[in-house]
Amino acid sequence: MSLFIGLMSGTSADGLDAALVDFSHGIRLLDALCLPYSDSFRHHIRDLAVAPLLKPDDIMAFDRHIAQHSVSAVRELLQRNRLQPAQITAIGSHGHTLRHKSQPDGYSWQAGDPSWIAEHTGITCISDFRRRDIAAGGEGAPLVPAFHQAVLHSTQPRMVLNIGGIANLTVLPHADQALLGFDTGPGNALMDDWCRQRLNCRYDAGGALAAQGRCRNELLQQWLTLDYFQRQPPKSTGRELFNLERLAIPDGCQAEDILTTLGELTAVSISRAVQEHGHADGELLLCGGGVHNQWLLQRLQLLLPDHRLASTASAGIDPDWLEAMAFAWLAFRTRQHLSGNAPAVTGAAGERILGGIYPA
Ligand SMILES: Nc1ncnc2c1ncn2[C@@H]1O[C@H](COP(=O)(O)OP(=O)(O)O)[C@@H](O)[C@H]1O
Ligand SMILES: [Mg+2]
Repeated sequence: MSLFIGLMSGTSADGLDAALVDFSHGIRLLDALCLPYSDSFRHHIRDLAVAPLLKPDDIMAFDRHIAQHSVSAVRELLQRNRLQPAQITAIGSHGHTLRHKSQPDGYSWQAGDPSWIAEHTGITCISDFRRRDIAAGGEGAPLVPAFHQAVLHSTQPRMVLNIGGIANLTVLPHADQALLGFDTGPGNALMDDWCRQRLNCRYDAGGALAAQGRCRNELLQQWLTLDYFQRQPPKSTGRELFNLERLAIPDGCQAEDILTTLGELTAVSISRAVQEHGHADGELLLCGGGVHNQWLLQRLQLLLPDHRLASTASAGIDPDWLEAMAFAWLAFRTRQHLSGNAPAVTGAAGERILGGIYPA
């Protein structure tokens, strides 16, 4: 066995995903869990994400809290699989992104102190995966396309769309098209924020509320002029750019109508990204929490009639755990002194071994 644990806390701030992966014969997911955040911590994460100023003490407390939550997730995964820390080669911990800025002058920082994780799990922790790519001139994101290529390559035209808080698209190589990947813009994040602020729920289960609203077309067209949508890849984004404060939502609108319009922004920005940069047809495999929003999937399929939309489950990968698996894989690569980034995706000057190693 060659066991690694991948940890991921995404921009949705729903919780921390942990995946136990065996790399001894290919890539095999053995178990996974999501350790949810409390409502108050989730709100705290959202506040930190958009706060113009952060206090150093708040940053350090956040760094520790994410590390402690990571330790709890690892312990639960070990316990229920009757494993000892010594049986795990390493943890690949993404942490939670506190700030991410695209190039030029890009930077990215993830909270979740790896020293704390190594000390309190007794397992070597590899983390800080993004900054080496940024130092080499890359975006440091998205990092999952290289993993998508490793596990989901196909002889047919195929793309992978991860709908987390932010959405990212991977165009797998086919014919004369090279590997490409970039953040398309919002995934669930804006809809989730609106649900919390105005609809008294964490997210729109199944897209039932969005299905009842009416799209406010003038708002949608205005939002689609945002600079990020006009930029060419490589590009990456985060909550700093996509939050409700920046969208100037008029007062007095029906709450469901705004939810529908935010959902349309997600669907239209994704479909345009596919049409501009993706394969003309073929499979579009979906992963991330957005796959559970049936209304959103219906909208996407209508906007992309020439593509076959399906969950990554149809290709043998559980859509809920793909990102955490990717960070187990990145740790596996780093342990072997192999590169983890795809320069064609991030724009880095070359392939780099990613992350720092914090021995057990
Ligand atoms: N049943 C569901 N219906 C609609 N949306 C869902 C459902 N389950 C999860 N989601 C969405 O998925 C999000 C979590 O997705 P996830 O892939 O974990 O994103 P991230 O990587 O940003 O944390 C939730 O915040 C919610 O918006
Ligand atoms: Mg999540």
